[in-house]
Amino acid sequence: MDKLLVRGGRALKGHVEISGSKNAILPIMAASLMCSGEVILSGVPDLEDINVMSEALTILGAVVKREGDILVIDGSSVNNCELPECVSRRMRASNLVMGALLGRFKQARVAYPGGCAIGSRPMDLHIKGFKSMGYEITEEHGLMAGRAVSIAGKETMLDVPSVGATENIMMAASMTPGTTIIRNAAREPEIVDLQNFLNRMGARIKGAGLDAIRIEGVDRLGRVEHTVIPDRIEAGTFMVAAAITRGDIWIENVVTEHLQPVIAKLGEIGVEVLPWGGGIRVVGNPYYHPTDVKTMPYPGFPTDMQAQMMTLLSTVDGTSVVVETIFENRYMHVPELRRMGADIKVEGRVAIIKGNQRWEGACVEASDLRAGAALILAGLYANGETQIFQLEHIDRGYERIHEKLKNIGADIERMSVS
Ligand code: EPZ
Repeated sequence: MDKLLVRGGRALKGHVEISGSKNAILPIMAASLMCSGEVILSGVPDLEDINVMSEALTILGAVVKREGDILVIDGSSVNNCELPECVSRRMRASNLVMGALLGRFKQARVAYPGGCAIGSRPMDLHIKGFKSMGYEITEEHGLMAGRAVSIAGKETMLDVPSVGATENIMMAASMTPGTTIIRNAAREPEIVDLQNFLNRMGARIKGAGLDAIRIEGVDRLGRVEHTVIPDRIEAGTFMVAAAITRGDIWIENVVTEHLQPVIAKLGEIGVEVLPWGGGIRVVGNPYYHPTDVKTMPYPGFPTDMQAQMMTLLSTVDGTSVVVETIFENRYMHVPELRRMGADIKVEGRVAIIKGNQRWEGACVEASDLRAGAALILAGLYANGETQIFQLEHIDRGYERIHEKLKNIGADIERMSVS
C-alpha cells in the first residue's frame, strides 16, 4: 500500500499532457465485445479501471493486449455472456457490458456493479431501456439476466439523463432490428465518442451530444481503429492545480469545448484561461472572488469536478455555495478538507464554504476518485506536509498524477507505507 507525501506552497509552472478519457474508454471497451474482429484503441492510459474492464472482457472470452498506450481487443473469440460478481463489483462501469452482450448475443447475465461510495448507483433506467426494446430482464441473486423475447427498436424516455443508461441502451440498440430513439439522453462528450466509435464499426447512430439519439439496428459490427478523446476531468483537475497554487500551466491534449463549464467557473473566480499552443494556459492570481457552483448534466458544471472546485473555493475569502444535484453522497472529501483548515458546512445536497487561507498539512484519506484528487490539490496549497492514504481510489482514474505534478514543480512523493 502506498501514500502520497505533499509539501504545499509552491506555484506550479510548466507543461502537462492530458491522457485519454477514462469515461470514454470504458464504454468503448465494452462496445468492443460487439466486434467480430479486432479493435485498436489509441491514447489509452494505464488506469486501474481500465485494467478491471480488460479483465472483464477476458472473462467473457475476448483477447485483450496492451502495447504502450494502445489497447488491442479481439472480440471474435467472445464465448461467454456471464460476468460474475467478483469482477462486476469492482467497478461501476462493468455494467456497460450488458448492452453490448444483449446487442450481439441477445443474452447476458451481469452481476450488479459495486454501489460506489458516492451514491446508490441504481440500474433502473438501463433496465427500462432494454425492456422497451423487448428484452426480458430478470433480477435474481444480485444478477441482471437478459434475453431477447420479441425485440424491435423502440422509443425510450430516460427519467434523468443518465450517462451509463444512455451508453448501455445505445449499444444494445445498435444491433437490435429497427429504430430506437433515446429521449432525454445524456449529452456528455464521452457519449459522442462512443457514437463515433460504433459508427466506424458500422453502426448507424445519430444525435449523440443532443437530448435525442436515433439508432438504426444493424446485423454486424466490424473492426476499427480509434483514438479516444482527452480526459476533460483530468484536464479540469490540472486547471484547478494551477489556480490553487497561483501557478502558470500550459495544458496540452484538451478539447477546449469540453471544458467550457470549468473555464467559465474559473473565470468567475478570477483565474485566467487562455488558448495556448493548441491547448490552454491557466494562470493563477493572488486574489480570487467567491462564487457558487451547482453540478448539472453536461453541458452544465460536471459533478466529477465538484470536489476539486470546492477545494479551490475553500481557499478564497468570502462565502461560496456548492450544490451537488447528481449524486446523493458526494461530500466525503469535506471532513478530510476540514482537517486541513477548510470551513465547510454541509446541509443535505448543499455545502456552505467560508473560504480562508489558514491551511495546514495533515494526514487524510481518499474516499473516492475525485475526492482523492481534491486532497492532492489541498496538499499543494496547505502549509507544511500532507500525507494522503487509500491511493487505490486515485489510481482508478489518474495516470501517474504525482509524476505529472512533480514535472511542473510540485513537491510530491509516492512511497510505500511501511
Ligand atoms: C458516469 O457514471 C461517470 N462514470 C461518472 O464518473 C460521472 O460522475 C457520472 O456519469 C455523471 O456524469 C463513467 O462514465 C464510467 P449516471 P454513471 O448514470 O453512468 C441516477 C468518475 O469520477 N441513475 O449519469 O454511473 C444516478 O443515481 C465517475 O469518473 C438512476 O437513477 O452516472 C445518479 O443520481 C464517478 N438510474 C444520476 O442518475 C439509473 O439507472 C447520474 O448517474 C442510472 C442512473
